[in-house]
Amino acid sequence: MPSALDAENRPVMFIGMDVRPFEQAVTEDLQHNIVMITIVFLVGLAGIISLFWSRKVIRSHRLLQDTRAFAAETIASLPMGIIIVDKRRHIRYMNDTACSLLGINISAVTDKTADEVLPEEIWHLHKIADAHGKGLEKEIVVNSENSGPTPISMMVTNIFDQAGEFLGFLFILKDLSQIRALELKIRRKERLAALGTLASGIAHEVRNPLSSIKGYAGFFGSLFEAGSDNRKAAQLMVEEIDRVDRVISELLEFARPADLQLRPTPPELLIKNSLRIIRHEAQSAGIRVKEKIDVRLPELHLDPDRFSQVLLNLYINAIQSMKHGGDLTVDVSMKRDAVLFAVSDTGEGISPEDQPAVFNPYYTTKKKGTGLGLAIVHKIVEGHNGAIWLESAPGKGTTFFVSIPLKKQQRKVP
Ligand SMILES: Nc1ncnc2c1ncn2[C@@H]1O[C@H](COP(=O)(O)OP(=O)(O)O)[C@@H](O)[C@H]1O
Ligand SMILES: [Mg+2]
Repeated sequence: MPSALDAENRPVMFIGMDVRPFEQAVTEDLQHNIVMITIVFLVGLAGIISLFWSRKVIRSHRLLQDTRAFAAETIASLPMGIIIVDKRRHIRYMNDTACSLLGINISAVTDKTADEVLPEEIWHLHKIADAHGKGLEKEIVVNSENSGPTPISMMVTNIFDQAGEFLGFLFILKDLSQIRALELKIRRKERLAALGTLASGIAHEVRNPLSSIKGYAGFFGSLFEAGSDNRKAAQLMVEEIDRVDRVISELLEFARPADLQLRPTPPELLIKNSLRIIRHEAQSAGIRVKEKIDVRLPELHLDPDRFSQVLLNLYINAIQSMKHGGDLTVDVSMKRDAVLFAVSDTGEGISPEDQPAVFNPYYTTKKKGTGLGLAIVHKIVEGHNGAIWLESAPGKGTTFFVSIPLKKQQRKVP
């Protein structure tokens, strides 16, 4: 008998199930997953992009800051003065060079208008710039407290934005003192060269007849009695001829183009030898001669003959300034990389107005002076790459300083 458990005869029951909701659920799940993945992907992508973006923004921000700082530093350290004035006439910017050229303290500029801060000769130029619209260049002299009268090249221009609207004025200042000093030096050299040619011509033509006149004056003088008026007149002639001869010699010396014969020379020896020459003259004028020589001085590379001439000219001027006796002091010391010679007297002194003129050729306050002594001194010192200056108090005395550098001394006297 067939059993219900028999595999072959087992009854089969078919149950019909609707799978659509299941499939729908699977599909929804899939869609949900896709949406989620897409959202996650998009969020991730947005995150990466914004990360990149923010990095880029930070980098460009930093770059902008660097560029701004660089531009500000560049403008601040330009060797030209920059002043920016806005259209309400307020000073918006002034770099260090402009401040020091005009002797203005930057803290005094804040919230001030240009006409309150800038010297009139500079500020009034904006009107001309207004009229022209374009840049305008002009040379002016400003009197700053720090450096006295200074020649300045001024450029004024109007500033406009991209839309063409007027924003303010830009002033550019350039210090011309070095250029002017150089021009002066070149002009002096040219004048000297012309003078040299002229002087040697005069010397040639004048000296020979002069020596004959001197000889005859001496001869005629000897024909008269000693102490007589005629004898005195003849002596005066001889003295005057000597003076003319001295002027010619000094002029030749001043204008002569010469090479320096540089040799290692101990400064001490220079002082001793040069003082020996004037000691007698000084003593008879009631002048005490004092010397202070630093024992550690190195040898200097200079032309001993021509440098002795520098010292002698300074001594002679010093002696001539002490009509009633006094002290002539020569002090030689080391000052950083130079040797400093100081020749001081206790004589009449030089007034501040006269001081700038003393090195000019033919400047003299003496009846029998040639005015060439200090011009020669100046030229020889310059030839040694040195510097000369003076300090003086009228009625108290004068000190001339000559500084000779230890290096780079070889140069031709122009
Ligand atoms: N030590 C000094 N003391 C006072 N005045 C001086 C001194 N040295 C130079 N000077 C002034 O400088 C002028 C020019 O000097 P210098 O060129 O040597 O020519 P000079 O001696 O022929 O006058 C002098 O006439 C004098 O007025
Ligand atoms: Mg002199």
